[in-house]
Amino acid sequence: MVRTLLTGATGTLGSALRPRLADAGHDVRAASRSPPSDGDAEWVELDLADGSGVDAAVADVDVVVHAATAPRGDSEAVDVRGTERLLAAAAEAGVANVLYVSIVGVDEIPLSYYEHKLAAERAVEESDVPGTVLRVTQFHSFIDGLLGGLSRLPVWPLPTRFRLQPIDVGEAADAVVEHATTEPGGRVAPCGGPEVLTLGKIASAYRSARGLRRPIVRLPVPGNVAGGFRAGDGTRPDRAVGTVTWERWLAERYGSEGPATTPSASPS
Ligand SMILES: NC(=O)c1ccc[n+]([C@@H]2O[C@H](COP(=O)([O-])OP(=O)(O)OC[C@H]3O[C@@H](n4cnc5c(N)ncnc54)[C@H](OP(=O)(O)O)[C@@H]3O)[C@@H](O)[C@H]2O)c1
Repeated sequence: MVRTLLTGATGTLGSALRPRLADAGHDVRAASRSPPSDGDAEWVELDLADGSGVDAAVADVDVVVHAATAPRGDSEAVDVRGTERLLAAAAEAGVANVLYVSIVGVDEIPLSYYEHKLAAERAVEESDVPGTVLRVTQFHSFIDGLLGGLSRLPVWPLPTRFRLQPIDVGEAADAVVEHATTEPGGRVAPCGGPEVLTLGKIASAYRSARGLRRPIVRLPVPGNVAGGFRAGDGTRPDRAVGTVTWERWLAERYGSEGPATTPSASPS
């Protein structure tokens, strides 16, 4: 049985990974800064920002699936320095494969969080411990959360021409599990959702699924970050491995919440 440390085990992806890794025969050690007391796995306390618990977390494991991140916090401390700490401890412990989950477009779109993800990818590739880097596109639930934050506004100002390729988090987790072996894969083929959509279309479908009638207005956003998203740098249509579309995900998520309404403004 492969002994596997899962960082970020309480997160969106980590929660989908825990049962899948167990089903695939891994003996899972799940890590969090605040482990639940009645979890379904062996839980350990780990804080990548200050390094506490790192050595104990990697002791006796074969594989590390590294899905911890701090997109809204100090991502330099967690994603860059924390990954370096984890790699050093994993090298010392003789781990066979550190699998790092990254994001499609981190090398193209100069968001500060993406720059930190790119630095973490490089740390994995330059480390003494063998590794795997898998890039994934945005999860449906992440986009849902962003749009949910807007939903009370009377008008939704959005960069409607951004292009995204949302993926079901379960399908992303399946791809991660495939590479969670004692054979490091290096940089493996990325993984995207089934279709590339403009944010305008994404927001319009969301509005219908929620039974809302807010106008969506195009917000022109200057700069390289917006330019990258408009150019589709965060997408990989050639790697559309997911099967769950945004419409289907919305139907499952919001089902009977509200009738689809006639949009009062049409996004591009
Ligand atoms: N969200 C997306 O759409 C998306 C798309 C593509 C790739 N990804 C990548 O997938 C991975 C997982 O993302 P996610 O959306 O599942 O993240 P998430 O839901 O925000 O979860 C973040 C996880 O990181 C842990 N964490 C945060 N700070 C930590 C620290 N100082 N020390 C140790 N653990 C810490 C949190 O655990 P505790 O709070 O319990 O400590 C939590 O389990 C990330 O690498 C992300 O870049 C995400």
